Amino acid sequence: MPYMDTVIHEIQRYIDLIPNTLSLSVTQNIQFRGYHIPKGTEILPSLTSVLYDEKEFPNPEKFDPGHFLDASGNFKKSDYFMPFSTGKRACVGEGLALMELVLILTTILQHFTLKPLVDPKAIDPTPVDNGFISVPPSYEISCALFPFKENN
Ligand code: HEM
Repeated sequence: MPYMDTVIHEIQRYIDLIPNTLSLSVTQNIQFRGYHIPKGTEILPSLTSVLYDEKEFPNPEKFDPGHFLDASGNFKKSDYFMPFSTGKRACVGEGLALMELVLILTTILQHFTLKPLVDPKAIDPTPVDNGFISVPPSYEISCALFPFKENN
């Protein structure tokens, strides 16, 4: 289960489902990294810039569950994991969404063996649409009841 947790975190980081939050406006004058942001300014926080931060996640373009593992192979929390945004306007469905992801994905993997129909290297995971939601491409997989038996 700890590794499953790690993989789900990496899937959420990698797919970057919601690249930017909705626009927000600052409630007071703010100094941020040398910039003065006056009260009332509309801002559009980029979640991508955090989820793909290369200091926190080396080689951020690569899908690697190791991004959430420490040197001993245990799950490592990261303050940069914010697919649900952060602060007062963060997702209110975060707990429900995480629970569903863990239960549904774990149940599928416990009962089925999934295999792509083509060489995984031939699958291009580049999103097909990048508006409010970053939509991943669809592709086919074969799904066999566990344990998988080859027909040969
Ligand atoms: C993987 C699934 C999900 C992701 C990645 C996600 C992500 C987000 C993000 C990034 C925001 C902030 C948008 C912003 O700041 O403009 C948000 C807001 C919100 N989400 Fe989710 N969400 C997910 C699932 C859900 C579910 C299952 C529910 C409800 C059952 C939900 C309900 C909401 C609501 C009501 C808000 C608005 C909160 C507010 O503005 O105060 N979300 N979500």
